[in-house]
Amino acid sequence: MVSNLWLGVASIIIGYFGKRVINLVQKRKCAGKTPATYYFVGYGNIINVFLPRIPWIFAGHNVEFEAKHKPFAKAGQDIMATFSFVGPQPISIRVADPVAIKHITTSRARFPKPVAAYRLLNVYGENIISTEGDKWKMFRKISAPAFSDRNNRLVWDETVRIVSELFSDVWGDKDSVSVDHAVDVTLPIALLVIGTAGFGKRVSWKEDALAPQGFTHTFKGALHMVSNHTRIKLLVPNWVYRFSKRLDRIRCAFDELELYMKEMIEERIKSEKVERHDLLSALVDSNISEDGGQVMTEDELMGNIFIFLLAGHETTAHTLAFTFALLALYQDEQDRLFIDIQSILADDELPTYSQMPLLTRCMAVFNETLRLFPPVPGIPKFSAEDTILATTDSEGNTVNVPIEKGSACTLAVAAMHYNPKYWKDPHAFNPDRFLDPNWPRDAFLPFSSGARACLGRKFFETEGIAILTMIVSKYKISIKDDPKFAGETFEQKKKRVLQTKYSITLTPVHIPLVFTKRG
Ligand code: HEM
Ligand SMILES: *[C@@H]1O[C@H](CO)[C@@H](O)[C@H](O)[C@H]1NC(C)=O
Ligand SMILES: *[C@@H]1O[C@H](CO)[C@@H](O)[C@H](O)[C@H]1NC(C)=O
Ligand SMILES: *[C@@H]1O[C@H](CO)[C@@H](O)[C@H](O)[C@H]1NC(C)=O
Repeated sequence: MVSNLWLGVASIIIGYFGKRVINLVQKRKCAGKTPATYYFVGYGNIINVFLPRIPWIFAGHNVEFEAKHKPFAKAGQDIMATFSFVGPQPISIRVADPVAIKHITTSRARFPKPVAAYRLLNVYGENIISTEGDKWKMFRKISAPAFSDRNNRLVWDETVRIVSELFSDVWGDKDSVSVDHAVDVTLPIALLVIGTAGFGKRVSWKEDALAPQGFTHTFKGALHMVSNHTRIKLLVPNWVYRFSKRLDRIRCAFDELELYMKEMIEERIKSEKVERHDLLSALVDSNISEDGGQVMTEDELMGNIFIFLLAGHETTAHTLAFTFALLALYQDEQDRLFIDIQSILADDELPTYSQMPLLTRCMAVFNETLRLFPPVPGIPKFSAEDTILATTDSEGNTVNVPIEKGSACTLAVAAMHYNPKYWKDPHAFNPDRFLDPNWPRDAFLPFSSGARACLGRKFFETEGIAILTMIVSKYKISIKDDPKFAGETFEQKKKRVLQTKYSITLTPVHIPLVFTKRG
C-alpha cells in the first residue's frame, strides 16, 4: 500500500524532471553552437527577484547589470543563450550586438513584448507598458499627444519653479545641506514634476508633509510604498494582509493611492471647462468617446495613471542620483560642467527653455550616466516566429544564431554599453565621449528604440537638464564624509557609493551627499 504510494510520487517527480531534461536537451540542440550559460533557476523566474546570483544555480535579481559585457567577451560573440532547468523560459537569447538589436526593435510584430514578464506592473490594471497589440496601440495613441513640445515647455517651467522652491523653502539659507541618500532629494523632485506637468497636481514641498484627513499616507508616501512593494502585492493574496501590521500598512497604501488617483480623475472631470492639454486630460477625455469606438475600462484608466506616475519619476530620480554621485566622485568633471553652465547662464538668472539646446555638456553628462547605469539594463522581448539573428565572432566572421519560435530574447543593454569595441575604456566616466559627433549611436539604448521606445525621453531630458543646471550652478556636490570610511581609497569609495540593486528599475543603494553653496 504505502510502497505503492511512494512509487507513484517518485514516478511523478521523475516524470517531471525527465520531461524538463528532454526539453532542455532539445532546446540546446536547436540553438546550434551558440555559447551559453546554465542556471537551475534562470531568467524570468520570480524566485530570482529575491536572490543574489549563484553561478549555475540562480541567475539572481541584478544579473543583467552585474555581468555587463564579461560573459559576451568570454563567449567571443555578442549573442548568447541562457538555459534554465526551472522557470517559465527554458531558453533565453541575450542580444548585445547593436545590429541584431536594431533588427529586433524595428520589427515589433516579429519580436513583441512578453506581456507575462510585466505582470508586476498591472497592480491597478493593464497599461501602456504592460500590453501588446491593439490594446497597446490604443493606449499609445491616447497618451502620445500629451508629450508634445508644448508640454515640454510646461515641464521646464514647472521644474524651474519646483527647484526654486526647494532652494527657498527647504534648503533655505543653509551654507551646506547634507542628505543621507541622494534619492531623498531626487525622488520628491521627480514626483513633483510628473505630478504637475502630467497630472496638474500642484503639490508644494511643505504641503505634502502631512497626510490629509482620513488618510494614513501622503500621496508621495503612498506612491513610494506601492512602488517598493508591487511584488508583495502580486504574491500575497488579499485575505492574508489583516494578519500582519506591516502587511496591513502596505495594503492601506495601495488602497489610498487608488483613492488619490480616483480623486484626481473626479476633480478633472468636474473642472473640464478649463481647457487642459496634459496627460491626465488625454487619459480622462479618451473615456468619454462618442463615436462608440473602443475606450478604456476604469481599471485600464487607473493602470495607466499609475504607470505614468511610476515610470515618470522612478527612472528619472535614480538617474539623477547616479549623476550626482558621479559628479561628486569626479570633481574635475563637475568643474567642467559648472564652467560650461556659467558661460550660458547669466549670474542669478533662472535657465529658460530656449537655452536648453545650448546645455549640451549637461546632456552629455546624463548620456554618460545612462550608459554606465541604464535604468532598464535588460529589455525583454520574445520571438514570434522561427528566425535567425546574425552577429560576428572575435575574428569578424558572421555567425548565425538560430532562434526558435517562442524563445525569450533579452536586449542586453548594459552589456552593449560596456563593450570596449564601441566604448573606449568603458568603465570610465567620460562625458566628453558624447561631445564627439561620431559617438556610436547604435550602441546606446537606455530608452529602448523603435515603436516601443520610451515615450518620456524628452520629458526626462527637459526636467533633468533644468534640475542639473540649477543645482550645479548654485551648489557644489560632494560625497558626505563618514568617519567609518576614513581610510578608504578612491576605488573603494567609488564601489561603495555606486552600488546598485534591482527593483522595478536599476536602483542606487546608498549615496550620501553634501550640497555646499558656491561662494
Ligand atoms: C531616465 C529616464 C528614463 C529612462 C531611462 C526610461 C527608459 C525606458 C525604457 C527602456 C522603456 C522600454 C521598456 C520596455 O520595453 O520594457 C521605457 C518605456 C516607457 N517609458 Fe520611459 N524611461 C525614462 C523616463 C520616462 C518618463 C519621465 C516617462 C513619462 C513621463 C516615461 C514613460 C514611459 C512609457 C509610457 C513607456 C512605454 C512606452 C510604450 O511601450 O509604448 N519614461 N522607458
Ligand atoms: C522604499 O525603498 C527605499 C530604498 O530602496 C527607501 O529608502 C524608502 O524609504 C522606501 N519607501 C517606503 C515608503 O517604503
Ligand atoms: C469610463 O467609461 C466607462 C464606460 O462608459 C464607465 O463605466 C467608467 O466609470 C468610466 N470611468 C471613469 C473613471 O470615468
Ligand atoms: C544624448 O543621447 C540622445 C539619445 O538618447 C541623443 O539624441 C543626444 O544627441 C545625445 N546628446 C548628447 C549631448 O550626448
